[in-house]
Formats: sequence, C-alpha cells, structure tokens
Amino acid sequence: MTERPDSPHRPAGLSRRRLFGLLGAGTAGALAAGTAGGAIGRATAPDLATAAGATDAVPFVGAHQAGIVTPAQDRLHFVAFDVITDDRAELVGMLKAWTAAARRMTAGRDAGPVGAVAGSPYAPPDDTGEALGLAPSGLTLTVGFGPTLFTTADGADRFGLASRRPKPLAELPSFPGDAIEPAISGGDLCIQACANDPQVAVHAVRNLVRLGAGVVSVRWSQLGFGRTSSTSTGQATPRNLFGFKDGTNNLKAESDSALDRFVWVADGDPGGDWLAGGSYLVTRRIRMLIESWDTASLDEQERTIGRTKGTGAPRGQHGEFDPVDFTKQVDGEFAVPETSHVFLANPTNAGTAILRRGYSFVDGSDGLGRLDAGLFFIAYQRDPATGFVQVQRNLRADAMNEYIRHTSSAVFACPPGIRGADDWWGRALFSR
Ligand code: HEM
Repeated sequence: MTERPDSPHRPAGLSRRRLFGLLGAGTAGALAAGTAGGAIGRATAPDLATAAGATDAVPFVGAHQAGIVTPAQDRLHFVAFDVITDDRAELVGMLKAWTAAARRMTAGRDAGPVGAVAGSPYAPPDDTGEALGLAPSGLTLTVGFGPTLFTTADGADRFGLASRRPKPLAELPSFPGDAIEPAISGGDLCIQACANDPQVAVHAVRNLVRLGAGVVSVRWSQLGFGRTSSTSTGQATPRNLFGFKDGTNNLKAESDSALDRFVWVADGDPGGDWLAGGSYLVTRRIRMLIESWDTASLDEQERTIGRTKGTGAPRGQHGEFDPVDFTKQVDGEFAVPETSHVFLANPTNAGTAILRRGYSFVDGSDGLGRLDAGLFFIAYQRDPATGFVQVQRNLRADAMNEYIRHTSSAVFACPPGIRGADDWWGRALFSR
C-alpha cells in the first residue's frame, strides 16, 4: 500500500495514517463522542429541548436556547434585522416584547394575550391569525446579536454595549471564491425560526417583525425547506440538493462533552459574563450550481463528496456511520480523495468540529433558466475563529467549490437560554 506525499492541509512530514493516529489519541478521541456512530452520553433536559412528536411544543425555557441542539425541524424562516432606533430603552422594550411573544408562540398560542380574533373590532389584533388551529409544530425561536449591535462599522458605540462585545464576535474574513452580496448579509439582530410546519415558522417571524416596528427593520430573510442535517442520533439523515446524505458526521445533541468543547461558550471564555451557555451562529447562503452538478458522473460526484451517494458510507466502506478511514484504498488509490469535501472537513484534518443545522432553499430561478437553489448553511460553535473559519479555510482546495458559490454571510452571538418567567432575551447583556 503506497502513501502519497503530504497534503498541504496537514502539517508537513505527517502522513495521513500518522496524523489520524495522533489525533486518534487526543482530538479525535474527544471528537468521537460528538460524531455519529460514536455518540454517547445522555440527553439532559431541559438543556436538550426535544419535541416528542413533530406537532408538539419544544420547551422555551432551559440552560441553552432551543433551536441549536433541538432535533432539527423540517422548515426554516431566518430573518436578520437592522436596529433603526438610537434609544436603548426602546430596544430593551422590544426584546422583552419579543420574549413574551416567543414564549407564547412556541407553546402554540397566539403572539399576544388577546389573540387574533377576541379583541376590539376597532383595533388591529395582537396576533395576525394565520396559525389559528395549527399545532405548535416543534417551533423554536433562537435570537442572536450581530457585531454591529455593539459597534457600528464606523466605530460608534450606539447602545453603550461596545465594551461588552466579546472578541470572537467579529466580522468574518473573506474567503477565496466568495461572491457575498452585502444586502443579504450581516445584521444587528437575528431570529432563527424552525418548525415542522412552514406556516408556523412564517407566522412567528411575521409577528416578531410586527412587534419590532419602529425599532428594527428587516435587513434580509431566508426561507428553508428540508433540513440538511441531523442534530440528534434519533433522526434519520436527510439528503441535500446534491442528492447526498448530509449530517451523518455532525455533532449530535447526545454528545455532551463534544458540545461543551465545541459549541457552548463557557464561563471563562470572552463574554462569558453574559454569553456563557450561549453559542456563536454563522450563516452562509450557498448557491449550488445544480445544473453543472447534474452533468457530473456518479463517480465524480462521489469523489467530490468522499462518500457514496446511495448509503452515505465513506467511499470504500460499507455503513453510513462507519468512521471515515482515510487509509482505505480502492484499486491502488485512496478511496476518500484529498480534495474531497469529507476529507477536508473531517475533524481529523480540519482540527475542529462545528454543529451544522442548515436547510435547502429554492428561491425561484435566476432569469437564465437555472434554479436559484442551494444550502442555507447554519453552524453553531464556541468561537467562529476555531469553528467555521478554520473549517472553511481548510476547504479552499475542496473539489466541491466548482459547484457552489457563497452569496451571503453573517455571524451572531446567541445568548444562553431563558431561565424563568421573568427572564428575557438579552437580559444579562443589557443589565449593566
Ligand atoms: C452547499 C454546500 C455544502 C454541501 C452540499 C455539503 C455537503 C456535505 C455532505 C454531503 C457531507 C457528508 C455527510 C456528513 O457527514 O454530514 C458533509 C460533511 C461535512 N461538511 Fe459539508 N457541505 C457544504 C458546505 C459546508 C461548509 C461551508 C462547511 C463548513 C465550513 C461544511 C462542513 C462540513 C463538515 C464539518 C462535515 C463533516 C465531515 C466529517 O466529519 O466527515 N460543509 N457536507
């Protein structure tokens, strides 16, 4: 069996077999607990907010916000906002109103206490009504704060929060091949609404937008269908628009130690005084050039991903959850090519792990007869620099780059979960 020269993506002098061996004793050992097939540990309620069924409610209160390790629901409505007021009290008032409405809507109730149809006929209802009769549908609402909420691009500290911005909450760097459109990127605040019924997610976002009138305006939003990840070992792995199983080797809700290491901000981390128990959220709208992909042979597609299309097993192996064996050869060649997505993204070579929670999208067509389709990539991590940025840098030689374009980018700090009846989104951040 031959060993190829060292890849540029791993330290010089280390063969892939040796690197795997080294990490197997350390990093990969810890990572194994967070990867499918190796997932162990317990699901701790209420930290792990689970819906018993697709139509049930997910608990809103817990140590972490729901919508991160919650088993990924089927639909997404993501929205990013610009804050348009300069008045900190107005912003705080809106966050309190949002929290109250989110508490109600995630329980399957109307956004306001009176509801869509029981109020005065002479005033606008405090709920818009399109979710009347619909089940809670596993709705989760997850809030995040962008870097520009703390300090504007020109350095202004508009809400007295500049000193509380944790260093990791910085604008993402640009990457080779980026085609980022500023109008659909960034944002001072975001809400990630996930549900198993699209109307329930859209209703929630619409009502939060309505409650934010005069304080925030919608900067951009994205609808998603068909989760492209599983975030729990209990979920079947879905397929993305390339037709491949996606989420096989994701961090999973059941792997507490890997989540503590790679997803949750800890007490001693920057910003830990208000962000401990929270996480950083990176979003990337990734257009998939599916017409070119569809002309690639099955073999080319599988070499690009590094896994087989049918079972999702690593190339040259049999089971979907078989740990990826980078030394495996088929016909004298490494089965998982060094330019494959899985080779470069796997923790063994990327040196880190992230929790992926993305959704497919099709936003019509582009006027040139091509579908404007892709993956709205969502990742949660303890620090973007050692999470998404590190993996994305390692993907610069990814064969998949020929078939994708990143068109939008954003980063947010998501505070910890709501603790009790009086808590509200951002309380610890705005408390001094
Ligand atoms: C349209 C863009 C993308 C597509 C279609 C895609 C698809 C896939 C597929 C099919 C897998 C293998 C199954 C699995 O383990 O989940 C995978 C794995 C993975 N992807 Fe992506 N991906 C995309 C973008 C990204 C980006 C931008 C990142 C991070 C910067 C990323 C990080 C990962 C990681 C960490 C894994 C797990 C690798 C492993 O541990 O074996 N992916 N992706």
